[in-house]
Amino acid sequence: MKAVGYETSPPDKAVDHLVDLDLPRPAPTGRDILVRVEAVSVNPVDTKQRGPVADASRLPRILGFDAAGTVEAIGEDATLFHVGDPVFYAGAVDRPGSNQEFHLVDERLVARKPASLDFADAAALPLTAITAWETLFDRFRIEPGTSEKGTILVIGAAGGVGSITTQLARELTGLTVIGTASREETRAFALAHGCHHVVDHSKPLSQEIEALGLGPVDYVFGVTHTPRHMAEIGRLIRPFGHLCVIDSADLDLSAVRFKSVSVHFEYMFTRPVYQTVDMIEQHRLLAEVSRLVDAGRIRSTRTRTLAPIGAETIREAHRLTETGRTLGKTVIAGWHGH
Ligand SMILES: NC(=O)c1ccc[n+]([C@@H]2O[C@H](COP(=O)([O-])OP(=O)(O)OC[C@H]3O[C@@H](n4cnc5c(N)ncnc54)[C@H](OP(=O)(O)O)[C@@H]3O)[C@@H](O)[C@H]2O)c1
Repeated sequence: MKAVGYETSPPDKAVDHLVDLDLPRPAPTGRDILVRVEAVSVNPVDTKQRGPVADASRLPRILGFDAAGTVEAIGEDATLFHVGDPVFYAGAVDRPGSNQEFHLVDERLVARKPASLDFADAAALPLTAITAWETLFDRFRIEPGTSEKGTILVIGAAGGVGSITTQLARELTGLTVIGTASREETRAFALAHGCHHVVDHSKPLSQEIEALGLGPVDYVFGVTHTPRHMAEIGRLIRPFGHLCVIDSADLDLSAVRFKSVSVHFEYMFTRPVYQTVDMIEQHRLLAEVSRLVDAGRIRSTRTRTLAPIGAETIREAHRLTETGRTLGKTVIAGWHGH
């Protein structure tokens, strides 16, 4: 089968070391299912994982942590899916990724693809939707479907994580959703994906927030460049407010200490990596996301599609992601010759 990755550990992080591979098709055991991958998307985690592979048992190393496809075979203990079911999922960072024609994934991390989306639109969603859902409803403990009042600030609202977080917050909470964007294009995208207000993260954020006249912010989601924004977060967050960070642990928390702010870390691979007893929650939350999409309440964040899936397009998607300026998600769809 076709795959994209490394057969031997590359000497450095250069994107050119990602090459087309021909690998044997894996077979599912236990709770794994084998998925015929139809579309994948690239996230910043792919670019962070790129480079030398310290543990030789992980070779060949395949990246890719978002996929949509159809179930091809199921392990002897798998009960959630049938052969032929269309599915979408992010999977696990410590296993071979989805940049391969046939991919093994634990069924507890997988849900049925939204029926109203094609594979490309579906592949844009899982990793970022899991991150957004776990932040809003697990870390912040906002009850989905209730009309809790207050404000949430999403820093980097037009990116992959931002543009699904703002949609979920707008649809499932009563919060006033404030996003940040620094350009006209990203500002318009954030407004079209659930933000009530958009402020500019290239200016002092506390002044931008003050100009809205909404008072101090209850929930701050530090999606990107959080260390750079910490001093401003300290000014704009309310006493006893909540901050969730996903992009760095290298933070100076003194800015929020005397406001008794609760600081949360979210890592969407915690459940699969530590095989937590509740890892099936990722199946459940993705199923809920699927229902929300089919009900027309949230939509795919795909903005660009490259084709077919192969080293050339995967490398191009890595380069685009590394600009740090993309809108929504870049998807790569289809295998040459299918
Ligand atoms: N812990 C987890 O589970 C988890 C999960 C997913 C992602 N992440 C991490 O979260 C981060 C964001 O991921 P993503 O997929 O949303 O990234 P992304 O799609 O690449 O983000 C792009 C957006 O970032 C904005 N941006 C650029 N510079 C900024 C700045 N100085 N301040 C605020 N926003 C800025 C851009 O807006 P403008 O063009 O308008 O400036 C652009 O819309 C990455 O570091 C990723 O690794 C962590």
